[in-house]
Amino acid sequence: MDANEIRKKYLEFQVKNGHKVIAPAPLVLEGDPTTLFTSSGMQPLLPYLLGKTHPEGKRLTDVQPSLRMQDIDDVGDPRHTTVFEMLGNWSLGDYFKEEQIQHFFEFLTKVVGLDPNKIYVTCFIGSEKYGIPKDEEAAKIWQKVFESAGVEAKIAEIGSAEVGDKRGIKPGERIFFYDDHENWWSRGGGCESTPIGDPCGPDSEVFYDFGEDKQDVEKYGLSHPASDGARFMEIGNSVFMQYKREKDGTFSELKQKNVDFGGGLERIAAAAMGSFDIFRISLLKPIIDKLEEISGKSYDNNTDEMRVIADHIRGAYLLAAQGLVPSNKTQGYAMRRLLRRAILRALDLGIATNFLAEIVPVVSDIYVDLSDSILTQREKALEVMLHEESAFRKTLNKGLKELHKMARQSEKTQLSGQDLFKLQDTYGFPMELSVEECYREGIKLTDNYREEFEAALKEQRERSQTASKGMFKGGLEDHGEQTIKYHTATHLLLAALQKLVSPDIAQRGSNTTAERLRFDFNLDHKMTDEEKKKVEDQVNAWIEADLPVVFDEYDKEYAKNILKAHGQFWDKYPDKLKVYTIGDFEHPVSREVCGGPHVEHTGAIGHFKIKKEESSSAGVRRIKAVLE
Ligand code: ALA
Repeated sequence: MDANEIRKKYLEFQVKNGHKVIAPAPLVLEGDPTTLFTSSGMQPLLPYLLGKTHPEGKRLTDVQPSLRMQDIDDVGDPRHTTVFEMLGNWSLGDYFKEEQIQHFFEFLTKVVGLDPNKIYVTCFIGSEKYGIPKDEEAAKIWQKVFESAGVEAKIAEIGSAEVGDKRGIKPGERIFFYDDHENWWSRGGGCESTPIGDPCGPDSEVFYDFGEDKQDVEKYGLSHPASDGARFMEIGNSVFMQYKREKDGTFSELKQKNVDFGGGLERIAAAAMGSFDIFRISLLKPIIDKLEEISGKSYDNNTDEMRVIADHIRGAYLLAAQGLVPSNKTQGYAMRRLLRRAILRALDLGIATNFLAEIVPVVSDIYVDLSDSILTQREKALEVMLHEESAFRKTLNKGLKELHKMARQSEKTQLSGQDLFKLQDTYGFPMELSVEECYREGIKLTDNYREEFEAALKEQRERSQTASKGMFKGGLEDHGEQTIKYHTATHLLLAALQKLVSPDIAQRGSNTTAERLRFDFNLDHKMTDEEKKKVEDQVNAWIEADLPVVFDEYDKEYAKNILKAHGQFWDKYPDKLKVYTIGDFEHPVSREVCGGPHVEHTGAIGHFKIKKEESSSAGVRRIKAVLE
């Protein structure tokens, strides 16, 4: 059974057990400053796990694409990826341990067809400190389930994975107790790290055994389920979410006892084909095959590089196909990082020219089955990725050249944080990439290069703040702040006109003072009172929403064709230009080429009122408006 089939069968199985299929959340989260991406199936369900009634009922299921950027450094081993799909089912105060354990076991052994002798499980040993009991109940249920399948299942107590190292598995053992670092689930980790207000609880993890020959005894000792090494791989986790962390640090019982289950689709698919390497499954192997073809090198001899490249391009594709574009901020930056790392690792394989045009179609073929409600921008994805690739190659060539020049010239034969800062600031060559290149090429770095880098960054920020304050004073005089508000209001006005009057409206002229704004635009008729009112209301609604106003510098082509920024003088603009975005970065209210400055939040603008709408010249209208 391949991954596509497992995804489908899982949902069918859960529907048969009375679950409703809910739509997965987008990978890219909006408007949450603490969490950039959906990283597990439970994340969108938080309010319901805390007691809110879900419209679809008490038994829910889905398959949630998830992204964990924090795992990026582990990618390269046989089992870690940044993006993955999580099979999920939830009981909101309905069934609990017994049914969950039985069902998951049945799914793995009867539906997917895994050998029950290769399945090992873990349970929570309890916490004296927090007064949380040992989960004997779950262990006993597992014992019963294994025995009914004719598999001996002794219970062992290990405690922490480290203490257990070298211990191995005694004959007949199958169920293992560990502490909260292994068998407690919260969004923050173990008991101590559970965020205040979050639902959490003991969990029970299921591991697949790839065989004794996979254990590296010299390196890791004799394996047991939670120990390091390639023998055991976690494939699913049932969280018995029955606690909530209180402000005083204690745990209180939730009225509603929930199950939050998450299973790794890719990992279960790997277990189904008996491959400890998940990059051999149908969702990844075609990418590896293509890389072998393009590079003329074999996966067996270039395993790590090919895993990283395959993972990162797949991740970036899933983000691009949901409408994200690379940028220097938050989610867009994560995407940029994935693509850039993939391109750098491809250099190691000798791929030094554009190759995404060949790879991305392979990835998009893999995901034809994934719902269009998630991948809304499949067509644009390729274009966005190709653009980023060629832009980065230019930066890369310049930056790498400069880095090696610096290394040759450096008297101490090592690079400092200041050097890395210069590469980033002047050549746009990111610090992380410099560090990786130095590591790869054996170029030494000073011991405290990170601190040096941070100090240089801080110093530059302070310098530029003073500079802009000075400019502010000189250029805009005392009325500067008011003029800035009018300036931002002008962007909102244009956006409202385009949205409500005609999408073809463009700026024909603009003039702002500390007392009013004046804005000229193309339109073939006098605006009606109703149109004026709608535009005014829209601008005020955006002001009240207190939208963020951000800017960044971009290549002209990118600003025009990918970001679709509004601009008046594309022919005359320089190659690099500043773009201001108002509102959410991926779905902005307004995006214009502009030198600024602007307010940082629209809430600072005040109340917007149109005073006059009149003819300016043939086919051009003029609005005068004030802020009250
Ligand atoms: N929320 C649980 C996890 O991510 C299922 O492992």
